Amino acid sequence: MRALLIAVVLVAAPAPLLAQEAEDDLTLPPVVMSTEFPGEIEVEPYERSNANAGATPFEGTEMWETFGGADGVSAIVETFVDRIVADPRIAEIFVAQDLVRTRRTLKEQFGYILGGPVAYSGRDMRSSHADLGIQSADMGALVENLQIAMSEHGVPFRAQNRFLAKLAPMRRDVVTR
Ligand code: HEM
Repeated sequence: MRALLIAVVLVAAPAPLLAQEAEDDLTLPPVVMSTEFPGEIEVEPYERSNANAGATPFEGTEMWETFGGADGVSAIVETFVDRIVADPRIAEIFVAQDLVRTRRTLKEQFGYILGGPVAYSGRDMRSSHADLGIQSADMGALVENLQIAMSEHGVPFRAQNRFLAKLAPMRRDVVTR
């Protein structure tokens, strides 16, 4: 009889716990997942334009080819973001951000600026970095990681520097303190 009672208690116990958990879930803020890009979180509506990329593209496809085309740019951005989120100087800024979206839009932005057959669909640099409190030193750390990523994927120094020169003026929109 005692064994039966224990069994009943054990079987019955999880039900109210689950109900409680379900109620708690309802109190969390809603996260709207994007229906357009799987795995991404919806952002406030904005007007899409290549002008949001923050730089005019190189003419021709030479730079795009030097970076290895779509595969090369994709590999560089993956290494770049992996390094950033593991860099103790700036990792904290990326906690709780949508890195699926950031990886995708960075690939678009780099591809577009490099003269590839790519459109940029992300937000402009000023509004996407406005609330992040980025300092000049954070920008330096980010660029350092990008240089290492480009070197790892065989981009010659001259091409690296030409690309960095396109990104440099974005500092004024990204660094806010
Ligand atoms: C030239 C320099 C930079 C470029 C080209 C750049 C590019 C981008 C792009 C394309 C996005 C995605 C925009 C979108 O979601 O629509 C983004 C988001 C982001 N960037 Fe940058 N960025 C730069 C500098 C920095 C720096 C220095 C930091 C901090 C160390 C930073 C932190 C972030 C974070 C946390 C997000 C995600 C924001 C969000 O999802 O709301 N960025 N950046």
